[in-house]
Amino acid sequence: MRIVLLGPPGAGKGTQGELLVKKYKIPHVSTGDILRAAIKEETELGQKAKVYVERGELVPDGLVVGIVKERLAREDAASGFLLDGFPRTPAQAEALDASLREMGMQLTAVINVDVDTEILLERLTGRRVCRDCGATYHIKFNPPTVRCVCDKCGGELYQREDDAAETVRQRLEVYRKQTEPLIAYYKEQNILYTVDGSQEIEQVFADIIEFLQ
Ligand code: AP5
Ligand code: MG
Ligand code: ZN
Repeated sequence: MRIVLLGPPGAGKGTQGELLVKKYKIPHVSTGDILRAAIKEETELGQKAKVYVERGELVPDGLVVGIVKERLAREDAASGFLLDGFPRTPAQAEALDASLREMGMQLTAVINVDVDTEILLERLTGRRVCRDCGATYHIKFNPPTVRCVCDKCGGELYQREDDAAETVRQRLEVYRKQTEPLIAYYKEQNILYTVDGSQEIEQVFADIIEFLQ
C-alpha cells in the first residue's frame, strides 16, 4: 500500500493517517511532523524550516524533497508507506513520481480529504496536540478524558503555533494556490479518490478503507 493523503490544513490527514498506518502496518511519513521535530531539536533543517512553518508558508521544495527521498529509501518503507502533507506543490509531485520510478514503485492511491473552509477553521483553532507522543485531539470533536492531558501517555496537550487564527488563514490560502492543483494532477493519473472529510472520523475512515479494498 503506497498512499498519499491530500487535503487542506485541518482536513484530518494526520487523524486518518494514524488509523491507516495501524491498519496496514506501514510507516506514517508526515513532512509537517518531521519539520516540527527538527525545529524542536534545533537541527540544521529545523533552523532553515522554522521561519516558513511559523509564517504558514511552504518550506522550499528542495529541502522537503530531500527528506522524503531519504525516508522512502529506508527499509521499513519498502513494502509500503503513507505520505501525509507531501507532495504539496506540482514540483514535489513530479519529484515523487521520478524517485518512485527509480525505485520501480508506483502509488496505490491518492486520497483527497475534502472539507469546507468554515469547518477547517473550527477544527484548527480547537486542535490540541500531545507534547510527548504527538497524539491529536480536538476540544470539541475529539476531547481527551482529562482536560489538557493526553489519554495515551499522560503528556501535556498544547496548541500548535501555526494554529493561531491569522496563520491558519495564510495556510489555507497557500493550500488553494500551491497544493490544490495536485487534485487535477492525480485525477489525470486515475489514482485520485475524494472522500467527504466533513463526516465523523470513523465514517471518513470507513469510506477510505472501502475504496482501498
Ligand atoms: P502540516 O503539519 O502538514 O499541516 P497541514 O497540512 O496544515 O495540516 P494539519 O496537520 O494542520 O491538518 P491535518 O489535515 O493533519 O488535520 P488533523 O488530523 O490534525 O504542515 C505544517 C507546515 O509544515 C506547513 O504549513 C509548511 O510550512 C510545512 N510543510 C509540511 N509539509 C510540507 C511540504 N510538503 N512542503 C513544504 N512545506 C511543508 O485534524 C485537525 C483537527 O480536526 C484535530 O483537532 C482533529 O482532532 C480534528 N478532526 C479530524 N478529523 C475530524 C473529523 N472527521 N471530524 C471532527 N474533527 C476532526
Ligand atoms: Mg497533520
Ligand atoms: Zn501523548
